[in-house]
Amino acid sequence: MARLKSLCLLLLPALLMNSVTSTDDEDHVVNHDVDPDPGRIKYIWNPFLGFCGENASMVRCGGVCPETCAFKSLRCPKYCGVNCACKPRYVYSEQLNLCILKSDCPKDIEQKVVETHRVFQ
Ligand SMILES: *[C@@H]1O[C@H](CO)[C@@H](O)[C@H](O)[C@H]1NC(C)=O
Repeated sequence: MARLKSLCLLLLPALLMNSVTSTDDEDHVVNHDVDPDPGRIKYIWNPFLGFCGENASMVRCGGVCPETCAFKSLRCPKYCGVNCACKPRYVYSEQLNLCILKSDCPKDIEQKVVETHRVFQ
């Protein structure tokens, strides 16, 4: 038990450091207005118009590779993307264009973990 406690004390500063570096990371997110990506029209335009809806939360930069029924990305281009992120246990449905419970995904689709599956422009 004492060992576990000291491990937590060791990890705490690392976690704090991590949150500091990730805010730093956000400053390097590419905003489309600043640096347009000519290839982006291949992807879905922001489907969250005005508000995020019941299954998503407002965020500053939701990114362009949300987890979907079919794919989960390991890495993603640093585009700010949409300002909504699906709530925990929800994934983005590219068929319905909204966040749905992962358990509501079509049963015949098995999610694959891939390098990058970009969804949004
Ligand atoms: C919210 O999620 C539920 C459960 O998956 C789904 O049936 C519903 O269509 C979703 N609604 C919206 C507005 O995203």
